[in-house]
Amino acid sequence: MKHENTAMLSVGFAFCGSFCTIKSATEAMKNLLDTYRVTPIFSEAVQHTDTRFGKAETIMQEIESLCGRPAIKSIVEAERIGPEKLFDLLIIAPCTGNTLAKLSLGIIDATVPMAAKAHLRNARPLLIAPASNDALSVGLRHIGALTMRKNVFFVPFGQDDPFTKPTSLIADFSRIPNAVLSALNKEQLQPMLLGH
Ligand SMILES: Cc1cc2nc3c(=O)[nH]c(=O)nc-3n(C[C@H](O)[C@H](O)[C@H](O)COP(=O)(O)O)c2cc1C
Repeated sequence: MKHENTAMLSVGFAFCGSFCTIKSATEAMKNLLDTYRVTPIFSEAVQHTDTRFGKAETIMQEIESLCGRPAIKSIVEAERIGPEKLFDLLIIAPCTGNTLAKLSLGIIDATVPMAAKAHLRNARPLLIAPASNDALSVGLRHIGALTMRKNVFFVPFGQDDPFTKPTSLIADFSRIPNAVLSALNKEQLQPMLLGH
């Protein structure tokens, strides 16, 4: 069935510790709120790290109040996503190099990888929006491995600053709503690779 009427669908929105992109990911998330029931999920880095981009507590409160529901913040809470089939789609935006590597290698020692594992158990779509300075070096093998995984899709991404940061990749967060629709239909939004 093609997903066109999305009014009742439920989306998990996981934030990882790419602190400079959390604001734009939050803006992108706002564009989903009229259409989907969105539950936030925070990585341990997001929960416990205050940076020049904001205090952890402030960032979490803002996102939880936008969604109108409490976040999933532990492996125990994330495990429920599997048996309770909590989400039609799970998005990780921003997804760090750290979490990309864990997803690729099956390392499930934190909230966001647990959420992804529990969700994929139900053969439902996982959408990844990478943001990492080493995505084109150590991270590229993990992106490659994940593109071959069933039910895993990417928000289109490209190099954000090729001459100053030659191994950095970032997803185009403005494409999240379209990428969500495509992934719900088990399709990769194209073009996946963005040029200049
Ligand atoms: C200010 C700041 C900005 C960061 N930005 C990024 C980033 O854009 N991408 C990335 O992959 N890691 C970034 N990191 C490193 C991650 O936060 C770190 O690898 C962390 O362990 C990620 O955990 P998580 O994947 O569970 O969220 C940043 C760290 C700090 C302190």
